[in-house]
Amino acid sequence: MTKRGFFICIEGLDKSGKTSQSVILVETLSKRGFNAIYTTEPSDGEIGRFIRRHVLRRERRVPAVVEALLFAADRADHTENMIKPMLQAGKIVVSDRYLHSSLAYQGATGLDVEWIRKINRSAIKPDLAIYLDVPVEVAMKRCVNNKSVMEWPNIQRRVQNLYLQFVRKGEMIPVNGNRPMEDAAKDILTLVLERLNC
Ligand code: TMP
Repeated sequence: MTKRGFFICIEGLDKSGKTSQSVILVETLSKRGFNAIYTTEPSDGEIGRFIRRHVLRRERRVPAVVEALLFAADRADHTENMIKPMLQAGKIVVSDRYLHSSLAYQGATGLDVEWIRKINRSAIKPDLAIYLDVPVEVAMKRCVNNKSVMEWPNIQRRVQNLYLQFVRKGEMIPVNGNRPMEDAAKDILTLVLERLNC
């Protein structure tokens, strides 16, 4: 594929503020004349909708391998049908979660992270992957009624440890999300503009 666009992923714990930051980034880039588009995982496709309905909103989690395969299938669908065409059309694609969510969340179940990478081989390497860093306690205070099977402090702590490993490896860039939204948004915009050479 000749890639002409720019692919940004924004990652973080549940309720870290990453959806707001992704939306703000797309709005700000659009106002500056860039052709930017917001997308999310689980995606709006059939597999993504299945995940939201039958995997995330349950009393108990489905087996970890099933989770990992479903998220990988949704990602392949999302990548082929939405992300690649948008990048080929030259757009800046901002994805609210992508591969690192699987590595962190399904990795946190004890599954081998390298196996999770393998089943996600069709995923695209992001041009910029941001980790919105918020303490587990702060994020968990925002979970009023447990929306998803993942929103428990012990799970989020393990997820955070894995995200921080990816930051240490240089795969992700951390942004402090534990401060006013505008301040984090400014830092994210700076990181993006630097990479777009603007
Ligand atoms: P969100 O819509 O608030 O981002 O929630 C999606 C949930 O799905 C969140 O708890 C993280 C989880 N998730 C995974 O476990 N693995 C994945 O690959 C993705 C994309 C999401």
